[in-house]
Amino acid sequence: MHVNLKNDSQEYKYVTFYLKNYLCVLPGQEAMPNIKIKDLAFKKFISSSKIEEKIAELAAQISQDYKDKTPVFLPILNGSFMFASDLLKEIRVPCRVSFVKTSSYAGTSSTGQLKTLIGHDESLFQQHIIVVEDIVDTGLTLDKIIEELRERGAKSVEAVSLLRKKLAREKKIDVKYVGFDLENEFVLGYGLDYDGLGRNLTDIYKAIDSTAIEQ
Ligand code: PRP
Repeated sequence: MHVNLKNDSQEYKYVTFYLKNYLCVLPGQEAMPNIKIKDLAFKKFISSSKIEEKIAELAAQISQDYKDKTPVFLPILNGSFMFASDLLKEIRVPCRVSFVKTSSYAGTSSTGQLKTLIGHDESLFQQHIIVVEDIVDTGLTLDKIIEELRERGAKSVEAVSLLRKKLAREKKIDVKYVGFDLENEFVLGYGLDYDGLGRNLTDIYKAIDSTAIEQ
């Protein structure tokens, strides 16, 4: 359908407002798969098909490495729910899964404040554990979790993270299985949020003006 709107009409104002604020495009600009959440604009960064391919690779590697074991996958809520769900569907060895929770972020920056693991069954800890993360940023969360699991007598502890940021690489945080290495982009979608929003997106997006974001 093609509609001509006069550029001083009320309808024209409504349409341009919608395009600018929700799709980040204006008439005459090429349509970009951008989104806007609260004050930030994001552009598509890693497509759902790329994520799917990477998950198949990670799952094949994990299945091979654990072929004689029955690992327990420990996804850290909330961010890892989508990744864990897709990863687990591709795992080809008998395994258990138990979702646990911690929290360290407020807005777009890590506060460094860590809570301990909650929502678990103690018996799960004397197993071969694979911690499942959506992102390792400063590495504080994962470091703390691995330490806690070792103290509780885990037979072995490894981690799989879909994303890993530069800081975690520099600090040599121990993540055996990594999907994608990032610089300092602020990302959302596929489980990752911006102030609670955007977790349901099937692709991963990055903030367009990441310099405006406190890292
Ligand atoms: C995010 C993410 C990791 C952690 C990584 O969780 O899911 O668990 O931060 O950050 P770090 O490497 O700097 O410690 P968050 O605490 O934001 O909670 P959420 O999963 O509910 O979003």
